Amino acid sequence: MLDAASIWKSFDGVEVLRDVSLTVRQGECLVLLGPSGSGKSTLLRCLNLLEPVSSGSIVFDGTEIANTPRGQVAKVRQRIGMVFQNFELFQHLSALDNIALAPIRVRNVSPDRAREQARTLLDRVHLPDKADSFPDELSGGQQQRVAIARALAMEPALMLYDEPTSALDPEMVGEVLAVMQDLAETGMTSVVVTHELGFARRVADHVVFMDGGQVAHRASAASFFGDKAPERVERFLSRMPA
Ligand SMILES: Nc1ncnc2c1ncn2[C@@H]1O[C@H](COP(=O)(O)OP(=O)(O)O)[C@@H](O)[C@H]1O
Ligand SMILES: [Mg+2]
Repeated sequence: MLDAASIWKSFDGVEVLRDVSLTVRQGECLVLLGPSGSGKSTLLRCLNLLEPVSSGSIVFDGTEIANTPRGQVAKVRQRIGMVFQNFELFQHLSALDNIALAPIRVRNVSPDRAREQARTLLDRVHLPDKADSFPDELSGGQQQRVAIARALAMEPALMLYDEPTSALDPEMVGEVLAVMQDLAETGMTSVVVTHELGFARRVADHVVFMDGGQVAHRASAASFFGDKAPERVERFLSRMPA
């Protein structure tokens, strides 16, 4: 589904990604771990063309997208859902309208049909009775689940999550991870930046550990957590909450 090869990215001459490669097969979940500043968000932003790469190849669903002309970027990005740490919902729209907006505007789905699909998605993220709630009437965990539903409304082939639970109170982390796990288990291909090791252990097929803009370690989840990892990785893991 996604094959990124030798991605380099610099900002003003400072190299932030150095020769990063990763592959995600259809239906797989890849978890990206690594310390703050290691380039995880930049990598996700490059993968969905929010940032141009300096060099490298990104093959998404059989098509090279790394050098997509500006005018066609939006078209590619429609097929890649992205969920951010801070939800980024439209504050002036209800949960239902947040979800229905892009299908109506971008995919020319009829408003009735888009709202019907939005209701189905609200069920999917376990918020069937929040259609008419505005973001400021929802908890962080609920807002993030609406944000996931909004991304799903475009029927993406790939979901990217950038620390989706890092801004949440601890008691809300589980409800968001449960939705992500359910999606992964029902076949959604995903790349997840998270510090939730339990999620990585339970849900990831593969784990990539980034450090200093490079892939420092990669393994199947079973091997990543089961076998001895490089010293740098062991030190990182030992400092994380259980
Ligand atoms: N738009 C930008 N301009 C300049 N430097 C940036 C920009 N975005 C990220 N960086 C730098 O790139 C490095 C990696 O950042 P980031 O991808 O956010 O790491 P992570 O998500 O792993 O914490 C950091 O040193 C950060 O300061
Ligand atoms: Mg980040």
